[in-house]
Amino acid sequence: MRRRLAAGNWKMNGTHASLDELRTLAQQHPSPGCDILICPPATLLDPMSRLCRDTAIACGGQDCHAEPKGAHTGDISAEMLADAGAEYVILGHSERRADHGETDETVAAKALAAWRAGLTAIICVGESEAQRDNGATLEVIGAQMDGSIPDGADGDNLVVAYEPIWAIGTGRVPMLPEIGEVHDFMRARLAARFGPGVADQVRLLYGGSMNPANVADIISVRNVDGGLVGGASLKARDFGRIIAALGK
Ligand code: PGA
Repeated sequence: MRRRLAAGNWKMNGTHASLDELRTLAQQHPSPGCDILICPPATLLDPMSRLCRDTAIACGGQDCHAEPKGAHTGDISAEMLADAGAEYVILGHSERRADHGETDETVAAKALAAWRAGLTAIICVGESEAQRDNGATLEVIGAQMDGSIPDGADGDNLVVAYEPIWAIGTGRVPMLPEIGEVHDFMRARLAARFGPGVADQVRLLYGGSMNPANVADIISVRNVDGGLVGGASLKARDFGRIIAALGK
């Protein structure tokens, strides 16, 4: 059985004052029915992971460099994330693909770095609105999965997040059958490449405007094993309600 995952992506939000939200969350969910992950900005990873010690909350990074160290000003390696207390790292988010020109090849190299450092990679895929309108969604998702996920994936080192670009931060969410179609497709794609045993263990998240009001419907869709939550993960009250729904 796959244990559901409630993953919060704080993006470029949060200062030390935001750790109060985390304290509240940790107190309110001492033994949740799902895994909880928060990926704060890198500046908060160390204090957050200290705070989360002995709680049910895990911490993760939002990106990493493919190399373990070296002359890469401004970058952070997977080893550094692990050193700061991360257990996961989000890779290939559409904002990084757009803002930093990350390709499937870059993402795959980063995923290998994550594994080298003992981190679980949350690899993001998702179509643009134009691609969906052109009927290319599954083709795009399939190509991103093939290119971004390295050989050697398993249920412990990989999570895949389906995040339609047009649903991120917009309040728009695909119809439930549309989410189901993509998640079924992703499971089958993993099974074809890694075998049904591995495919069965990899958690598939939905991301894009997930909130306390729509989480119950989304999680009822087959092959959805949790959520990658942006805006609604910033406040303990909202994220707490999402955790409660995923933990049922
Ligand atoms: P959102 O972001 O929940 O604010 O739409 C999700 C994401 O980009 O991970």
